[in-house]
Amino acid sequence: MGSGNTTLPAADSSAGPANRPPEFAIIPEPVSLLKTSGQFTLPENVIILATPEMKQVVDYLKEKIAVPTGRFVAEYTNTSAPASIRLMLNNKANPQLGTEGYQISITPTLVVIKANKTAGLFYGVQSLLQLFPKEIESKELVEDMTWKIQCVEITDYPKLAWRGLMFDVARHFFTKNEVKQYIDAMVRYKYNLLHLHLTDDEGWRIEIKGLPKLTEVGAWNVKKTGEFGSFSTPGPDEPRTYGGFFTQDDLRELIRYAKDRFVDIMPEIDVPGHSLAAVASYPDLSCTPAAVNYRVRSGEKIMDWSHGAPPIALVDNTLCPANERVYSFLDTVITQVAALFPFEYIHMGGDEAPENFWQKSDAIKALMQREGLRDMKQVQGYFEKRVQKIVESKGKKFMGWDEIMNSDIPASAGIMSWRSSQFGIEASHLKHEVVMAPQTNVYLDLMQGDVITEPKVYNSVRLPKAYEFDPVPAGADPKYIRGGQANLWTEQIYNIRQAEYMTWPRGYAIAESVWSPKEKKNWTNFIGKMEVHFKRMDIAETKYAPSIYDPIFKASRSADRQVMVELITDIDGLDIYYSFDNSFPDRFYPKYTEKLLVPKDASLMRVITYRGNKPIGRMITISVDELNKRAGKR
Ligand code: ACM
Repeated sequence: MGSGNTTLPAADSSAGPANRPPEFAIIPEPVSLLKTSGQFTLPENVIILATPEMKQVVDYLKEKIAVPTGRFVAEYTNTSAPASIRLMLNNKANPQLGTEGYQISITPTLVVIKANKTAGLFYGVQSLLQLFPKEIESKELVEDMTWKIQCVEITDYPKLAWRGLMFDVARHFFTKNEVKQYIDAMVRYKYNLLHLHLTDDEGWRIEIKGLPKLTEVGAWNVKKTGEFGSFSTPGPDEPRTYGGFFTQDDLRELIRYAKDRFVDIMPEIDVPGHSLAAVASYPDLSCTPAAVNYRVRSGEKIMDWSHGAPPIALVDNTLCPANERVYSFLDTVITQVAALFPFEYIHMGGDEAPENFWQKSDAIKALMQREGLRDMKQVQGYFEKRVQKIVESKGKKFMGWDEIMNSDIPASAGIMSWRSSQFGIEASHLKHEVVMAPQTNVYLDLMQGDVITEPKVYNSVRLPKAYEFDPVPAGADPKYIRGGQANLWTEQIYNIRQAEYMTWPRGYAIAESVWSPKEKKNWTNFIGKMEVHFKRMDIAETKYAPSIYDPIFKASRSADRQVMVELITDIDGLDIYYSFDNSFPDRFYPKYTEKLLVPKDASLMRVITYRGNKPIGRMITISVDELNKRAGKR
């Protein structure tokens, strides 16, 4: 099929209707939701009954309702006012709800949201908004709508207290307004922690008073476009004007903005590895004399990963553990970071520190002798313990990536388990507070679809994997699991639209993993809700990945060594139509039903996915050369 004089089949009339959307599509799934009778209709004049301590929540809700509906929304504190929405803090705490839980009761004339704390009211408001028609997401007035919602009773509270997203603003810089936009999206899914990865080889993004070169030199590199990691080395004359940084005032504004939405910001200063921007600014932080010639990385290759971890560094991107100036530098940095960020933890990185330059350093050899350190793991351990002391001396708790457990780091250190959940399981038994962020399930920089459809990254985390994320896995001591988070590294992410694309819908899946009871999670139900949220995000103009609708191409060889192609999708009820004749298929083309022989003389395969008679996937083209490559030896 697909080549020569093939007669195309008629459109398949057996294709079913579009999946019916679920009646309720709250993400993350609430603990309990009971449908009751009737519908609440938003009146022309909306009166929110609240008390002054709920101001943050009321301001948020007022804007969310007033903008799309054009209704007059007023706030009253007088309990005899004819309220349409009533926010209440429990006089006597309901222990089931904790600090972030809420109850919603909707009757035809009144919405009541109750909680122990204002954070719970805020999450109640998020669920309420998700009960409204999708047009509630509009940033402008929507005419001719009746704003009705089904009456329900909801009781809901989170499974875990730490529900995070990490945003890497170092590899590519994102502005204050872009970070706000990211926060706006995350709070809809009840995330409460934004981890800002503020420093790396490609940029130092936080103003530190007294260390001006960090942002004069360290925040700027050469703008390059394409496949990050293999860029040409910039020449000495190429302008270093790409990047940026947050002033301390910018950060105060962001912290405030986040706090108004019940989000804490955790800063990360990633040391001793991933520190080329700092070293390029202040070369005397390095053990390596050649550092005087180092420049902030612009995406050229600086690390050889072909032998696994730790990588072989081609330039020394580490701070020198044997150099006292490093500790006074870090004291200055940490003093200011601690004063700026109210959050209890400062994350000090600790991942992927290469050892090969330390092995050559006389200063490191002398340190090892003096301190009785046997290997480079212990050298990093010595560094981590000193940094932990500095952090704790500023009244903060110290957190690092799981490599900091390579030596006997005290149990007061928080562990962010990224290489796998196994490190977090071990850390929980050693009584470290643990945040689970295993790359196997929650690394948002990894590809979501077939490699030919996405900017190329070294691995994939497709949506089902993200949905399988279990932040409290078997074998862990649950008492020490603070929560879980997803990490968005931005080497291949050049703009906020792509940051959103990589975050959603996997961010929905992970929100459900950290908020909802395990027994409430259901993949089929989740996919139905996801589709409702895609439509909401269309209206909110937030980008998301439709990769779930596109097939993965698997190739193999027939007995006579011809290439065969198999198309795999992660969700049911999709029809895939294809061509090998270079034209663009639609639903009147051959439908894929089973593994296919690729016509001998074809050069391209194109596919598109439909649900019923509507195209839903993207037009995807794969070369027969690529299929041959995947199929292996001819
Ligand atoms: C990491 O992904 N290197 C923490």
